[in-house]
Amino acid sequence: MPRALLLENIDPVAVELLSSAGYEVESLRGALDEADLAAALDGVHLLGIRSKTQVTRAVLERHPGLAAVGAFCIGTNQIDLVAAAAAGVAVFNAPYSNTRSVVELAIAEIISLARRLVDRDRALHAGTWDKSAAGSHEIRGRTLGIVGYGNIGSQLSVLAEALGMRVLFYDLEDKLALGNAEACGSLEELLERAETVTLHVDGRAGNAGLFGAEQFARMRRRSLFLNLSRGFVVDHEALREHILSGHIAGAAVDVFPDEPREQGDAFSSVLRGLSNVILTPHVGGSTQEAQYDIGRFVAGKLADYTRNGTTTLSVNLPAVALHGSSAARFALLHRNVPGVLARADALIGEHGLNVDGQVLATRGDLGYVVTDVNGDLPPAVLASLRALPETVRLTTFAQRP
Ligand SMILES: NC(=O)c1ccc[n+]([C@@H]2O[C@H](COP(=O)([O-])OP(=O)(O)OC[C@H]3O[C@@H](n4cnc5c(N)ncnc54)[C@H](O)[C@@H]3O)[C@@H](O)[C@H]2O)c1
Repeated sequence: MPRALLLENIDPVAVELLSSAGYEVESLRGALDEADLAAALDGVHLLGIRSKTQVTRAVLERHPGLAAVGAFCIGTNQIDLVAAAAAGVAVFNAPYSNTRSVVELAIAEIISLARRLVDRDRALHAGTWDKSAAGSHEIRGRTLGIVGYGNIGSQLSVLAEALGMRVLFYDLEDKLALGNAEACGSLEELLERAETVTLHVDGRAGNAGLFGAEQFARMRRRSLFLNLSRGFVVDHEALREHILSGHIAGAAVDVFPDEPREQGDAFSSVLRGLSNVILTPHVGGSTQEAQYDIGRFVAGKLADYTRNGTTTLSVNLPAVALHGSSAARFALLHRNVPGVLARADALIGEHGLNVDGQVLATRGDLGYVVTDVNGDLPPAVLASLRALPETVRLTTFAQRP
C-alpha cells in the first residue's frame, strides 16, 4: 500500500480522503526538522506539511520515491520548488481556502473601527462606563477603497456592497468590477475618495513599502485603514504618526514586517497601545472552516495527481487537467527540449501500441505529457521511456483512471 505522511496537525479530512484513495496515512501533530524529515520519508509517496516544515533540496534528493508534497496552507516558501520540479515532485497548495475567512475578518474590523468598539470594550473592562455616540458611525453609505482586487479584494467588494457600502478599487491589472464597484485609475485617486482603505495586494517584492507617509497623508482626514495582506507593505512608523496626529481615525493590522516565529513569543510593534487600533496575530485566514477546506482541497489535489496525473493548480509542474479513461495511462515529466514527444511516441509505436489520447503542457524547462495507450505497457517500453536522457520522472497509473 502506498504511504502518505502528514505533519503539523493537518485537518482529519485529509486523512479520510487519502485513506479512501488507497493510502496508508500517518498523521503527526508537529513539524520535523530536516534530519528527522529525511529519516521519516523512507517509503513515503506523499508528504503533507504546513508552514513550519522545510522541504529542502537535500531531503528531496534523498527520496526519489516521493511523488508529491501538499502544502496545507497558502504559502510555499518552505519548499524548495525548483529542486522539487527538478526531482519531478509535484507541489500543491490551497490558494483560495481561506479567502472567505479573511474577508469576514475585514468586514468585522471595518464595523469595529467605525464604531470604535475596541476602545469601548477596553474602557468597560477597565470599569469605565463611556456611553457616547461621538466618533461612532454606520458603515452603510460609506466609501470603501480596496487596494488589490484579487481573490480576497473582490470577494470583500461583494460583501461590503451587500452591507450598503460604496466600493472603489485599485488594481495593477484590469479587473472585472463586481456589482456596482468602481475601478480607480490610480492609487492616489482611491486614497483621495475612500473613507476606509483596505489593502489586499499580493506579496511581490515591488510591494515593499507600498504604503508610507505619502499615502497616509493622501488619505482623507479621519479615514480608517486596514492591512490584512503582507506586513512589509506598510510603514508602521508612518501609520503610528498619522494615528497619533488624528489624521487616521483607526486601523486594523493583521500582518507585520517581523512576526514572532513561535506561539507565545513576545510581540513588539510601534502600533501597540494606540487608541482605536486593532492588532491581530496574522489570523485573517485562521478559522476552522478554512482549515477543513485546506485539508479537503490539498488532499483532493494529491489524490487526483496520483490517481490520474492531473496537475491542475500545482505550483511547480505544467498544468494538465485530465478526465478518466479506460486506456492504460502513463505520465512523462521531461526536460522541455525538442523531439521528446516524438521519441516517446516512437517507442510506444515500436511495441505495437497505439496512442489513444495525449495531453502536453510545458512550464519553463519542464514538459509534462500524459498518454493513454490501447494496451498494457510492457516493462521494456517503460524501461526505454525511463532511459530517455530527458526523462525527469515516469509515472504509470495502476488502475484505469
Ligand atoms: N491575513 C491573512 O491571514 C491572510 C490570509 C490569506 C491571504 N493573505 C494575503 O492577502 C493578500 C491577497 O490575497 P489574494 O488571495 O486576494 O491574492 P491575489 O493574488 O488573488 O490578489 C492580489 C491582487 O493584488 C493586485 N496587486 C498586486 N500589487 C498591487 C499594487 N501594488 N497595487 C494594486 N494592486 C496590486 C494583483 O494584481 C492582484 O489582483 C496576499 O498578500 C495574501 O498573502 C493574508
